Amino acid sequence: MLRSHTNGQLRIDDLGKEVTLSGWVQKTRDLGGMTFVDLRDRYGITQLAFNMDVDASLCEEARKLGREFVIQVRGKVIERSSKNPGMPTGEIEIDVDSLQVLNSSKTPPFTIEDQTDGGDELRMQYRYLDLRRNQPRKNLELRHKMSLEVRNYLDSANFLEVETPYLIKSTPEGARDFVVPSRMNPGEFYALPQSPQTFKQLLMVSGYDRYYQIVRCFRDEDLRADRQPEFTQIDCEMAFVEQEDVLRTFEGLIKHLFETVKGVGFDGDFPRITYDEAMEKYGSDKPDIRFGMEFNEMNQWAQNKGFRVFDDAEVVLGIVAPGCAEYSRKQLDKLTDWVKRPQIGAKGLVYVKCNEDGTFKSNVDKFFDQNELALWAKETHAEKGDLILVLSGQVDATRKQLNELRLHMGTALGLRNPEIFKPLWVVDFPLLEWDDETERFHAMHHPFTSPKPADVNGMEDDPGSVRANAYDLAINGVEVGGGSIRIHDRELQSRMFDLLGFSKEEARNQFGFLMDAFEYGAPPHGGIAFGFDRLCSLFGGQESIRDFIAFPKNNSGRDTMIDAPSPLDQEQLKDLGVQVQVSEE
Ligand code: AMO
Repeated sequence: MLRSHTNGQLRIDDLGKEVTLSGWVQKTRDLGGMTFVDLRDRYGITQLAFNMDVDASLCEEARKLGREFVIQVRGKVIERSSKNPGMPTGEIEIDVDSLQVLNSSKTPPFTIEDQTDGGDELRMQYRYLDLRRNQPRKNLELRHKMSLEVRNYLDSANFLEVETPYLIKSTPEGARDFVVPSRMNPGEFYALPQSPQTFKQLLMVSGYDRYYQIVRCFRDEDLRADRQPEFTQIDCEMAFVEQEDVLRTFEGLIKHLFETVKGVGFDGDFPRITYDEAMEKYGSDKPDIRFGMEFNEMNQWAQNKGFRVFDDAEVVLGIVAPGCAEYSRKQLDKLTDWVKRPQIGAKGLVYVKCNEDGTFKSNVDKFFDQNELALWAKETHAEKGDLILVLSGQVDATRKQLNELRLHMGTALGLRNPEIFKPLWVVDFPLLEWDDETERFHAMHHPFTSPKPADVNGMEDDPGSVRANAYDLAINGVEVGGGSIRIHDRELQSRMFDLLGFSKEEARNQFGFLMDAFEYGAPPHGGIAFGFDRLCSLFGGQESIRDFIAFPKNNSGRDTMIDAPSPLDQEQLKDLGVQVQVSEE
């Protein structure tokens, strides 16, 4: 080894030891008689001391070291005269007696410091340098620890890790597929898996009754802070279980992760909410329940008073922002502009200030007198000093807008502390959702999700009201996982395909292999998949999952470091039997 110790290892107890250290030069400080070098590796920093009086030529060499040079030194551990209590190795330094430059370095395009001067783009382009910084390193260490604990828990619960293929046929998770041309089968393409869904179900048919895999999934969809085109799932499936068994098993996994990785415990079971209730109370299927501000339906008190906007609306919904009655005109205008942005899409914002003196001030007080506003306050449980914020319109759109406003206010009021964790199971999702564009039902989860037994009879007559044995886990407003109990009955599966508008041929063509397998004794089964990157960023207290992926893509799906995607040369295209025609768009 080119070192006897790492740069985070030596302490005052090691005084007098002869050591060999290797690493990168973080910085050099030349104080005339003495030159100090901070030597860094992934374990920490150790200070090297070069004394002009003892060895002038060695000291000269040290002075010439540039940032990020790779060096090896030998020397003795000595006590520092000015100690640095902020550093684990801050009580010692190395009195160097030999120095070897193992490699020089160009000046890096940004400083390798916690507070770096490098912007996002630049750091992604030189990600290998960015990863030398503390924060990205800590993020990857956290990720490592998480995957270790996932494996510990699942292994002890008898789950078997099985790998499934990446070159497959399309899987039905609702995004577009990434496809790979097959040279050996000209004109044909593999799809990269959006998840191992069909394979884990096949494994259940094969009798591997507890499967898991920490697995890469690929989805061609619009990217956001919590979405990457390739991301990792903790993908799990169990046979001979009902919904309750799956929820209990994986609540156990999440609790285990919190305990072992964050030292956070939870009293009792994670709360549960039905999809319908979540939409009514929060306008979201992944509510952030670190704070209240639940929705109040106000139709009863707000309609038929001559205010057209409310009268014409399907729904009038309000939330109470605690302690915000003091908001100035300017702040309220800003909030109104915020909800009117195209991303939110509200037409306007109605507010009622519940003043400390018991009076009310609203931008619609032309239509509603003090008594009426007092009734609003009473019914929404607004106190003196609070601010009622009201949106109205079509139900789904208004809920969506108010959800955004609620989260915005929660953030503004400091109610979304990243160190507080509030998990919530969302259950009883609808089986299907109507798509206006294609004018047909789509599976809300995927086509293998089973309807609730009590609702099966209504599948054909009232498909929209059928609930599914499907569940999500949301933590702090982030959907960290989702799954379902599957259909294991061929006849029911075929009814589901009918509902989704698949012809027999289409169903056969796409999922024939699964339907065939189900003819050979498929056990009742169900499962769940967690977004591993999302769990990591949640545990790390950050919003972007990119920071927890060693080599992520940017928002256009590009890896700027390796410059991918990139065109193929003609020879390769010919080999693949592929012709490229780039459209003007
Ligand atoms: P689903 O599509 O809900 O379910 O995905 C499971 C979890 O994966 C995470 N996730 C993502 N994370 C980062 N980037 C993305 N583009 C992305 N898309 C999804 C989310 C999500 O909750 N086969 C089913 C699971 C099952 O039924 O067992 C599935 O994939 O955290």
